[in-house]
Amino acid sequence: MQRLGKSFTLFVIVLFSDLSFTHCGNVLVLPGEYSHWYNMRNIVGELLNRNHSVTVLVNSASPTINFTQQERFQYLVFDVPLKAHEVHSLSEQLVNIWMQYPRPNMVQIGLQIMDVLGKVREMHQIMCDRMLRSETLISRLTALKFDVLLYDPMIICSDLLANILDLPVVLSLRFSLGFSMERMCGQMPSPPSYVPVPPTEMTDHMCFMERVKNVIVYVVYSFAFRMASMSLDNYYSEVLGKPTTMCETMGKADIWLIRTYWDFEYPRPLLPNFKFVGGLHCKPAKPLSKELEEFVQSSGDHGIIVFSLGSMIGNLTMERANTIASALGQIPQKVVWRYHGKTPETLAPNTKIYDWIPQNDLLGHPKTKAFITHGGTNGLYEAIYHGVPMVGLPLFADQPDNLMHMKTKGAAVVLDINKMQSEDLVDALKTVLNNPSYKESIMRLSRIHHDQPMKPLDQAVYWIEFVMRNKGAKHLRVQAHDLSWYQYHCLDVVAFLLSIVALITFLVIKTCCFLFRKCFRKTRPDAKAKKSKKE
Ligand SMILES: *[C@@H]1O[C@H](CO)[C@@H](O)[C@H](O)[C@H]1NC(C)=O
Ligand SMILES: *[C@@H]1O[C@H](CO)[C@@H](O)[C@H](O)[C@H]1NC(C)=O
Ligand SMILES: *[C@@H]1O[C@H](CO)[C@@H](O)[C@H](O)[C@H]1NC(C)=O
Repeated sequence: MQRLGKSFTLFVIVLFSDLSFTHCGNVLVLPGEYSHWYNMRNIVGELLNRNHSVTVLVNSASPTINFTQQERFQYLVFDVPLKAHEVHSLSEQLVNIWMQYPRPNMVQIGLQIMDVLGKVREMHQIMCDRMLRSETLISRLTALKFDVLLYDPMIICSDLLANILDLPVVLSLRFSLGFSMERMCGQMPSPPSYVPVPPTEMTDHMCFMERVKNVIVYVVYSFAFRMASMSLDNYYSEVLGKPTTMCETMGKADIWLIRTYWDFEYPRPLLPNFKFVGGLHCKPAKPLSKELEEFVQSSGDHGIIVFSLGSMIGNLTMERANTIASALGQIPQKVVWRYHGKTPETLAPNTKIYDWIPQNDLLGHPKTKAFITHGGTNGLYEAIYHGVPMVGLPLFADQPDNLMHMKTKGAAVVLDINKMQSEDLVDALKTVLNNPSYKESIMRLSRIHHDQPMKPLDQAVYWIEFVMRNKGAKHLRVQAHDLSWYQYHCLDVVAFLLSIVALITFLVIKTCCFLFRKCFRKTRPDAKAKKSKKE
């Protein structure tokens, strides 16, 4: 028995030492901006906790990343002939297109977005050139001997760097318009019959007309994505010195880390190299600062409401800010509002404005009753993690669609920030606070979120480590990458089988005709003979 025990311990030790064997890897990170970086920072932090070394490659005009700051990882900065405020102003222009009131029609919005995206594209091209065509930078990166590249496809051409440095790739993505990038470059299937195309704000329960709309949007986005990626194909071929396409290069990614999960998404088919790690940035709440804690405690049994429209939106028009502030004054709860515009005149004593708030810690506070949010994915996941029902004021991009998911799952009331009156916001808040179904729904999502075999952050880091240990994850890549579109849809096989069927049918018909004619000819002289006999 003792011996058995011993060998068992030995086995356990061997097993554990085998599992805990991690070679300390060397990770190159190419981040996106704004909330994308805030999200990715958590992966970087966890990689450092596990003793990997991390280098973050950043351009000198990054509006988000303060690379002069001392960190546990090193920054490698490459110069671009741009200024951070110029880059930021383009993002602001994009946001402002959505903030126009009265809002122009979708065609005008589309044209304005195309215009700004054209400028963004030019800017990215400058960044790409500076990054990919600088021999000193490339030789320095080569000398650092990285094991993997982790990147955010917000900036085009990061995948080219992986190709030049010959590194396996893990990419981090929320989603692309119409899942075009995932479908067309990653080969992830997305049947339009039951997977709503984002961001159409439809659910997976589509009536006939909604499916018509879904298919049309699917085709339009596919076409637009093809046009946009085709304009990059030349650049990709030029840089790599061989004919290639953007999708081919991007499709070489070993692992796609998608920043959502089934607490948020509608069920849909997946590929083995797509890993869903939504909410990886969420953590248990830390204690608040003394001043904030006092304010929160002063709310008594009514509790507090946390209000933030995200990092991209600085200020509203005075009229909107006043409408919101006067609504907030009509509820018994206290409100913590993250806002850095001019203080509204109608601000009530129960509302406090802060330039920045520890949002995760506030949402995790037991006194927090509701969250007023613009519907960015990071904030949404913090609300799911801590189980806080929401009032959504979506502003732009994926936010209306994100909040639609929460609304159909019964965890949010959504308003139009441009049209709503004070009473609408008061009503929405009262509904979310007083109708227990909202709290129940968000708690159900929260349980789904927490009931996973592996925490999202651990899963993300696990797959990065996996790629480093195994020099890629090519065994998870579907063969669809190497098929042409007609092979993918088996059109060549269908054509082949149909021609066989056609050939057989033809032969059968011909044989029948032949036999029929033969019989007919044989019987005819008989019939004639019979006829003549009768006569
Ligand atoms: C990281 O390295 C430190 C110091 O060498 C060690 O104490 C720690 O256990 C290591 N952590 C992991 C997760 O391997
Ligand atoms: C960036 O970090 C440095 C060093 O910590 C600090 O002095 C500077 O104010 C920071 N810049 C911004 C824009 O936050
Ligand atoms: C924000 O407010 C400032 C003045 O407080 C104003 O100059 C600026 O144009 C406003 N920005 C937007 C995007 O409305």
